[in-house]
Amino acid sequence: MAEAVGTRVAVVTGGNKGLGFEVVKSLCRLFKGDVLLTARNESLGRAAVASLEQTGLKPKFFQLDITDQTSIASLATHLSNKYGGLDVLVNNAGIMFGRSSTSPFEEQVKTTMKVNFWANLNVCKTFFPLLRSDARVVNVSSMLGSTALNKCAKDLKGRFTSPHITLDELESLMETFENDVSSGTYSQTWPETAYGVSKIGVTTMSLIQQRLLDREGKTDVVVNACCPGWCRTDMGGQTATNSAEEGADTIVYLATLPPETMSPRGELVTKRKIKPWTKGTVL
Ligand SMILES: NC(=O)c1ccc[n+]([C@@H]2O[C@H](COP(=O)([O-])OP(=O)(O)OC[C@H]3O[C@@H](n4cnc5c(N)ncnc54)[C@H](OP(=O)(O)O)[C@@H]3O)[C@@H](O)[C@H]2O)c1
Repeated sequence: MAEAVGTRVAVVTGGNKGLGFEVVKSLCRLFKGDVLLTARNESLGRAAVASLEQTGLKPKFFQLDITDQTSIASLATHLSNKYGGLDVLVNNAGIMFGRSSTSPFEEQVKTTMKVNFWANLNVCKTFFPLLRSDARVVNVSSMLGSTALNKCAKDLKGRFTSPHITLDELESLMETFENDVSSGTYSQTWPETAYGVSKIGVTTMSLIQQRLLDREGKTDVVVNACCPGWCRTDMGGQTATNSAEEGADTIVYLATLPPETMSPRGELVTKRKIKPWTKGTVL
């Protein structure tokens, strides 16, 4: 049955397991509206929805592979037709090559950047026009991005943390990283971490997005990046210090910030606390 256009809606990417699954679970309890559990694999996504239904929760499923523009566009059409907008966007989906991976570094960089940076950026570019008043966007980043930032050459770090960096400049820096890795010239300037640099991109992107929204007068929309901490998921491994539920806490906190929130907005947040990212004050 079609929802009344105007019903509030939250979208969580990579919701079939790990932190995304925990975020969906919490939002089903806290968010007044529909919660869309999205997953690239339809059967895994539907199984996750079914397991939550068994506990009395009622997420809805929508297939979304964030690397597939057709898939992104199809969800955008669904949101527009069925809800007339979007209220919460949690960009959670991400990947990381394990330490034991034997894939060449160049391949790790291309694949990781494709999912963690470029795909999340495309999701935002497609969905931001749908954001309604008081919408909340949470881009799941990592403190490993901050660690990587501190290992960048001084000039490069200054560019990432400049309060004036533009989205075009960020995209160009991310392309430069990939090109420098391909040409074997990256080591003087960049740290040797595909995941870390991809998360520098996610955090920087979030800060720029808030500035752009403010400039457009959409000051009631709040975007933040966050680190969930080291969590026991397929990505984090079973020796991690936090449960997935604990990791989801900051994500859900940011996704449900009340109207007229002045802080945090356009920040990197972990354990519900802001971690400074401006020039010269990173960690
Ligand atoms: N766990 C930690 O310690 C930790 C720490 C800091 C930050 N993070 C960040 O937290 C987020 C969630 O991590 P997690 O620990 O929950 O990882 P996870 O258990 O490996 O789950 C990752 C999720 O992302 C999905 N995904 C991957 N590529 C996708 C794509 N192209 N389209 C749609 N979904 C895709 C996966 O789907 P499939 O099941 O189909 O693969 C899965 O649902 C990530 O952004 C990660 O970088 C995690």
